[in-house]
Amino acid sequence: MTPFDYADFDGHESLHFFNDPATGLEAIIAIHSTARGPAAGGCRHWSYLSRDAALTDALRLARGMSYKNALAGLPLGGGKAVVLRRPGAHSRQELFAAFGRAVDSLGGRYITAEDVGTTVADMRSIAATTRYVSGLGGSDAVAGGDPSPSTAYGVFLGLREAWCHVGGSGADLAGVRVAVQGLGGVGYNLCRQLHAAGARLVVSDLDRARVERAVAEFDATEAAPAEVLQADVDIQSPCALGAVLNERSIPAIRARLVAGAANNQLATSEDGERLRRRGILYAPDYVINAGGIIRVACEYLQQGTESEVRAHVARIPATLRQVLEQAARESLPTHVVADRMAEQALRAPRGPAVQRELSKVSHAN
Ligand code: NAI
Repeated sequence: MTPFDYADFDGHESLHFFNDPATGLEAIIAIHSTARGPAAGGCRHWSYLSRDAALTDALRLARGMSYKNALAGLPLGGGKAVVLRRPGAHSRQELFAAFGRAVDSLGGRYITAEDVGTTVADMRSIAATTRYVSGLGGSDAVAGGDPSPSTAYGVFLGLREAWCHVGGSGADLAGVRVAVQGLGGVGYNLCRQLHAAGARLVVSDLDRARVERAVAEFDATEAAPAEVLQADVDIQSPCALGAVLNERSIPAIRARLVAGAANNQLATSEDGERLRRRGILYAPDYVINAGGIIRVACEYLQQGTESEVRAHVARIPATLRQVLEQAARESLPTHVVADRMAEQALRAPRGPAVQRELSKVSHAN
């Protein structure tokens, strides 16, 4: 089977495979669209069960980035990278420097940043060999660095907005029970905000130390990774990996709302309809988890202070409201409406910010 035959191939502009035995690098960069600007999206470092699984992940994640960046109004297209985690003693610094060379070879068509399994330190290793990287660090004039806190802030605001739509009392999350799956950069920061807002937390992670910290700091209850999605809560917030909302898991969900950070939470499009039929509201992942890429874009484009990033992230609930209201009016799954809005944004005439970014790429080439 060729990449064109994969179920998740969606007219991606290009796919790039990299192999460097000296550093142990095996990586895929998927560019879904540069219609709005250079393709931007994080670099995932993960152990996949197979290369097929890695390619599928890259294809799905890259498309999600096109939609996310378009709906967030950023002058960026969509792309994503996966670096396969492999056994053997390779230097992490050299691995990511080699990945930087791979990114550099694309001449600015793809811009990388953090994702699951990568850190600010990795971005610095990448920056040794390419300038097409963000998430390194900010300054007084320009916000930057680790995108996770901004992602968590956007998810928090989106979750609160969606809670209003299922009949919750809006801004007041006091006593509302929320299960958070995954306590990494985003999940931990989200728990902090939910706890401050009075929510009662059920938490889960594969990493014991992360669970123990959340239990101690946020008075949370622990759930086993295999059971967290069935927890007796009001809201499920998946903040680990994708495809957790599927044929098997959806019938057992007891929450009325799913609102989390994980990319590609729906295993298939039918799962969005499954949730709708069960009366569970789904806040589409890429609508509410755009906070990180907003920060990454600000650092890369060198425009936007901390407060401007915060103000941009604070527009997420308004976009989500549009999606949820339209989905209710048309009795459609929320992800269908979000996809439609994103596709419209992708087709829209290029504004001046988009033109500016595209001209930079063609000059770099
Ligand atoms: P991370 O790598 O910092 O944390 C992920 C956590 O999930 C880890 O602690 C891991 O042990 C845990 N985990 C993995 N599988 C699990 C399972 N089956 N059950 C329970 N826990 C599990 O990743 P990060 O940055 O917090 O991202 C979380 C999700 O949000 C990912 O899907 C990512 O793509 C998405 N996202 C992240 C953004 C960011 O700014 N970091 C931006 C937008 C989306």
